[in-house]
Amino acid sequence: MNKPADNVHPIHELLQKRWSPRAYSPRPVEREKLLSLFEAARWSPSAANSQPWHFIVASREEEGAYAKMRETLTERNRLWSKDVPLLVLAVAQVEREEGKQNPWALYDLGQAVAHLSVQATALGLYVHQMAGFDREKARSFFEIPAGFDPVAVAAVGYYGSVEELPQEFRDREIEARTRKPLQEFLHDGGWKASVVEPELVN
Ligand SMILES: Cc1cc2nc3c(=O)[nH]c(=O)nc-3n(C[C@H](O)[C@H](O)[C@H](O)COP(=O)(O)O)c2cc1C
Repeated sequence: MNKPADNVHPIHELLQKRWSPRAYSPRPVEREKLLSLFEAARWSPSAANSQPWHFIVASREEEGAYAKMRETLTERNRLWSKDVPLLVLAVAQVEREEGKQNPWALYDLGQAVAHLSVQATALGLYVHQMAGFDREKARSFFEIPAGFDPVAVAAVGYYGSVEELPQEFRDREIEARTRKPLQEFLHDGGWKASVVEPELVN
């Protein structure tokens, strides 16, 4: 299903097409496509080129890690993501060395996942990120060491069909996507001057 952005100004077709569905097909993701996703993440920028990201991949075809990853999810996320072929845990290296924080680790990890999402769109795949998971369970199940924080789980795969979704998610799946207008977050030269001129945003 397509749910392109209703953008006011022109944006790249891939950015327009990307969205976060819940109706996934169980069709496995090809190995070469999977590697391209992480290659895209690999080439995203990061503070001092620190690349403070790690990804734990759990495939539906290999029961162990997949079952554990599903168990970390909130009940609601577990319900819609039942057919997702790949679950990816995004982990940030939040300490550069023991006791020394990297304040940009989350920023960099998010940016790497953004690159991955756009690459996924180019490959006909979809990504749905989730903050709704139990970080402590994830840390323990996947033996994530101190200095590294599990941040989000991403569902990755091909689109399925709305009819296969549990009823409670169907309306949301087909409803229009919305965004704040540019005026609400774009500041023209200073916080107080705040809003850019309306003629620049419409
Ligand atoms: C960090 C992050 C956490 C999210 N957590 C959840 C979640 O736990 N469950 C869920 O269904 N969607 C989750 N989402 C998806 C957002 O709700 C979705 O990206 C947003 O509504 C915009 O929709 P779009 O991606 O289709 O444009 C999350 C997205 C991000 C980036």
